[in-house]
Amino acid sequence: MKKSIINFREMVEKKEKIVYITGYDYLTAKYEERAGVDMILVGDSLGMVTLGYETTFPVTMDDMIAHSSAVHRGAPNTFIVGDMPYMSYQISNQEAVFNAGRFTKESLVDAIKLEGGTESVCERIKAISDVGILVMGHIGLTPQFAAQMGGYKAQGKSATAAMELLRQALAIEAAGASFILVEGVPAVVGKAITERLSIPVLGIGAGSYTDGQLLIYADMVGYYDDFTPKFVKRYANVGAELLKGFTAFCDEVRNGTFPDDGVHTYVIADEEADELEKILAEIK
Ligand code: KIV
Repeated sequence: MKKSIINFREMVEKKEKIVYITGYDYLTAKYEERAGVDMILVGDSLGMVTLGYETTFPVTMDDMIAHSSAVHRGAPNTFIVGDMPYMSYQISNQEAVFNAGRFTKESLVDAIKLEGGTESVCERIKAISDVGILVMGHIGLTPQFAAQMGGYKAQGKSATAAMELLRQALAIEAAGASFILVEGVPAVVGKAITERLSIPVLGIGAGSYTDGQLLIYADMVGYYDDFTPKFVKRYANVGAELLKGFTAFCDEVRNGTFPDDGVHTYVIADEEADELEKILAEIK
């Protein structure tokens, strides 16, 4: 059964960890649901992982809606969070609400996520929450702000920077967010934020104290290998398995081993085959 915000609050109270993972397509989502994950994030990381862009910037609302719908079809009983892509919420509250509404209506996500802890992002969180949509804030190493951070670097590494992240987290909670995701910070910072917020705090590269853990699925199953962040643990080697299968197929097609007509081919009754041969001989 799909979990609700109430179930997630109860999990936090009972100190049960929330399992959160990204997903971008129907098939992967199906396996994630079978494995029993609690929450799937259709992240704008799909730009790199699925669409082959170098950053998340080119990802559009239409991309996000198409992929979130596919994930919803693959995992109809799992709570799905749709990531607001670059420039879908920055310009005005009106555009932010419009795009969050599109997500909810067109791909049936259960919550949306947006990056940043600035005053204007908090305004967007309030505007979206005010129309009844669940919002997940996202602070720390936020890829849409990578240029200002000087690249994809861990955040909150000084006491002042850590206190600024805590201030942002509290502001996001006060703005009406139902969850917050903290990314790429030392474990003590993840702990300080988790202990001071009452909404569920999810972490990715934020240590073990957060209420739940997120990883990008393609990193943790060894599928995306362009770059692997320090905080990723690899649980499978899907890339190697795919390579093995594709290479064997190439070899077998080229050397005539596949298909084996006794196994991989449809059959025709002997009399029909004879009849076909006769007709073909006549029209030759
Ligand atoms: O897009 C995404 O997958 C994300 C994670 C990096 C947290 O936002």
